[in-house]
Amino acid sequence: MWKRGTLRQMFITFEGPEGAGKSTALAAVAQRLREMNFEVVTTREPGAGDFGKKIREILLHGDDLDAKAELLLFLADRSNHVAKLIRPALESGAIVLCDRYADSTQVYQAYARGLDEDFVRQGNRFATGGLLPDLTLLFDIEPAAGLARIQSKDRMDSLPIEFHQKVRAGFLLEATSQPERWRILDASASSDEVLESAWALIQATLAAKGAKLG
Ligand code: TYD
Repeated sequence: MWKRGTLRQMFITFEGPEGAGKSTALAAVAQRLREMNFEVVTTREPGAGDFGKKIREILLHGDDLDAKAELLLFLADRSNHVAKLIRPALESGAIVLCDRYADSTQVYQAYARGLDEDFVRQGNRFATGGLLPDLTLLFDIEPAAGLARIQSKDRMDSLPIEFHQKVRAGFLLEATSQPERWRILDASASSDEVLESAWALIQATLAAKGAKLG
């Protein structure tokens, strides 16, 4: 059983192409951590809070959007999310598990949509005030396999397969260029296997951040 030890706060993000199973794994990880008496906050992007829900509706269920307008809406959502929810939760000592974060913007809006990479990096820094996750798990899956798992497709899911192939390549590039923060999981495995891989990686980060087994 893990105990808090000198662990003060921890920020973990779950990233990956569509249908990779990250949301299911996130819920199961949160439950395990809570059973160990950690204070856990789960959240997601886009769409936390009232403001986030309205932006999510426009982004995922509205009309086709100009790529720059889309980028700015994801950043607006993130800025408010970090200020109102993520930072306060971390400052109170919680473990925050977030389903998608700044890396999704880097991959979807810069790498796949083709917006300027440096501008998007700066936009992310501006929106987050430089807040980076302690650990980012990449749930890697071949796009056709991931999309086949999705039951009702939103505006982004419905983009052509070539777009989703770029998304996957973009995630792999980001993950391999910052190996200290990222870990890659094979999300084509069964949901139990994916959960156990994610759990093992999270336990390693708990230990690195000062939690103790005992
Ligand atoms: P969501 O229903 O949350 O899907 P998923 O289960 O795949 O996370 O939809 C979020 C969609 O928005 C998803 O297609 C990824 C996309 N997205 C971006 O394009 N940029 C971003 O910055 C974020 C956070 C998400």
